[in-house]
Amino acid sequence: MIVSVQNQKGGVGKTATAVSLASVARARGQRVLLVDLDPQASASRWLDVEPDGEAVLGLSDLLDGVASGDVTLDQAVVEARAAEEDRPELDLLAADEALLFIERELGGDGATDRLRTVLADARERYDLIVLDGGPAITALSANALYAADVVLAPVTLSSIALDGIARLRQLVELANEQGHALRALYLPTGADARLRETRELLDVMREAFGSFPDGDVLEPVRYSSALSRAYGTRETIAEYADTARAETGRGDRAADRAVEDYGAVLDALDRIQERTRD
Ligand SMILES: Nc1ncnc2c1ncn2[C@@H]1O[C@H](COP(=O)(O)OP(=O)(O)OP(=O)(O)O)[C@@H](O)[C@H]1O
Ligand SMILES: [Mg+2]
Repeated sequence: MIVSVQNQKGGVGKTATAVSLASVARARGQRVLLVDLDPQASASRWLDVEPDGEAVLGLSDLLDGVASGDVTLDQAVVEARAAEEDRPELDLLAADEALLFIERELGGDGATDRLRTVLADARERYDLIVLDGGPAITALSANALYAADVVLAPVTLSSIALDGIARLRQLVELANEQGHALRALYLPTGADARLRETRELLDVMREAFGSFPDGDVLEPVRYSSALSRAYGTRETIAEYADTARAETGRGDRAADRAVEDYGAVLDALDRIQERTRD
């Protein structure tokens, strides 16, 4: 399954969501590929992979080389985490600087399926492919939409929460009119249920889009201070939770909460996958 984490609004938790879903899925034994589509390269850095570092060729070379077929996925994939006893490796298509310039290349008509083509082989090799998009509507974000089975839009629960959601919804509808079967899901992030504003906005969203499974609003990912701490130590949230447990025995409650919440998102994705198989 290919999940595109995207929302053109900045700082809503896209990267935290993409990296955490990848890490919790891996902790469940799944083979995961994380694709960093953002020239800011936050997801790559979170996994301690410098853009334009280890890979022989970057994502932009891959997107560029599709037509000629002379660039393979293997040349561009970095093993961000090696396989361990109970966990397979975690693979990454890291962002590279040239992603900034790929726009013109992709901007031409009909270039919306470039990423889809790049990932066609990867579909067989991974249980889950997660795309981390940047904060803009670009040719690359359109490519992400057209490559994905599910568009997962993190949304912060502030009074401007619904900004941008309407636009994303239009784009999803457009893709579906063109024959795609794209499912849109909204994931409230950083939710603090003690705040009245949070509860009210959650109600507004649920009213507008319905609650999962029949509607599109997932259970929120609660506020967790462990996410920024994990970024600081370049550990994924699953790794951070493990380290805390090894060090203190009790573990870190905020980290465990985040692992649990992102685990619930993975459960929702599993349900969608089961349904499409039926
Ligand atoms: N559930 C959460 N609880 C607490 N903090 C969070 C949560 N999710 C994300 N954050 C924090 O919010 C900030 C923005 O998150 P993130 O970088 O994931 O957003 P983004 O949408 O990827 O941003 P950009 O648009 O720049 O790519 C980060 O400091 C991150 O640690
Ligand atoms: Mg980001």
